[in-house]
Amino acid sequence: MTDSVKPTWYILGAGAIGCLWAAYFRRAEFPVVLISRTPDSQSTLTLNNSSGRHQVDVSFKSIKQLDQCIHYLMVSTKAQQTTDAIAEIKTHLAPDATVFVVQNGIATQHLPNQLPTQKLFAGVTTDGAYRTDKYTVTHAGAGQTLIDTLTPDRVTQGCTELIRQLPQNDLRIEYSEHFKEQQWKKLAMNCVINGLTAIYQCKNGEVLGIARARNTATVLCNETFKIIDALGIMIAKDAQALFKDVELACQLTADNYSSMYQDIKHQRPTEIDCLNGFLCKQAQHMSLPCPENQSIVDQIKQLEQAR
Ligand SMILES: NC(=O)c1ccc[n+]([C@@H]2O[C@H](COP(=O)([O-])OP(=O)(O)OC[C@H]3O[C@@H](n4cnc5c(N)ncnc54)[C@H](OP(=O)(O)O)[C@@H]3O)[C@@H](O)[C@H]2O)c1
Repeated sequence: MTDSVKPTWYILGAGAIGCLWAAYFRRAEFPVVLISRTPDSQSTLTLNNSSGRHQVDVSFKSIKQLDQCIHYLMVSTKAQQTTDAIAEIKTHLAPDATVFVVQNGIATQHLPNQLPTQKLFAGVTTDGAYRTDKYTVTHAGAGQTLIDTLTPDRVTQGCTELIRQLPQNDLRIEYSEHFKEQQWKKLAMNCVINGLTAIYQCKNGEVLGIARARNTATVLCNETFKIIDALGIMIAKDAQALFKDVELACQLTADNYSSMYQDIKHQRPTEIDCLNGFLCKQAQHMSLPCPENQSIVDQIKQLEQAR
């Protein structure tokens, strides 16, 4: 298939995940426009992955430079940035555009109201990526992206119509029948792993080897499991099973630095309010205690301010 018959994907959020997917879209011969905040004349990206170093041509544009109606939009901003970013681009979207949001946290619930006619999909991913500069991205850990539609009433063939338009050769992308549970499970694991790796400044594979961090992870699993269970969402059999899932995730992504670690290191705002902070709000609504997650929120905010 040539570029002329493949739709153009616009990617809002030209960070680690946005650049990773842009590179794989290009390798699958989809035209790609990465939308950056400011005008940018760059036209190549470098991708490092297990098969080597690859150069791909992409186009960077700012929202002001967009002159075409967007039919396919991927959103890969941080969870707390999504509402504002979509508000900025909304007028460029076709009324029946496909919008695919890949991020951590549970910030996608309000999207059907913000975009009342578009076909909306959400994804959670265990792929790991980081950038060494604005135009160089490393695929640090090959994982899986689970997807589901947020607007079943607006799509005709479920997720198959989206999956056909994604770079399936290089990324593992699957529809998940239990997407909500997967999204919450990812949230729970991020609440345990991300904050601790940022606090102890270590790789995912190192954090549970630190005695104090391991103890905190155990109590975080107990508290997190109770809160999500009280919401009626089944993410694991019990808190011990959640801890085992956390242990496995740390092993599988042993060489990765979590995004929160990287955000603190590079003095960027973290997603703490959309992860542990979000969980604390849920607990508050149900009058449940949440001291362990609150302590992670407080420590990460201190680190954000210190830098
Ligand atoms: N990286 C990973 O390995 C990984 C793994 C699993 C899940 N995730 C999740 O995937 C999501 C994206 O993560 P990431 O690591 O790619 O984050 P990131 O590197 O911080 O990328 C986010 C990008 O969004 C851009 N952005 C924010 N607001 C914008 C706006 N209004 N207009 C245009 N661009 C805007 C940012 O631009 P500026 O730099 O100009 O602010 C940044 O380039 C997060 O939810 C993260 O938790 C990441």
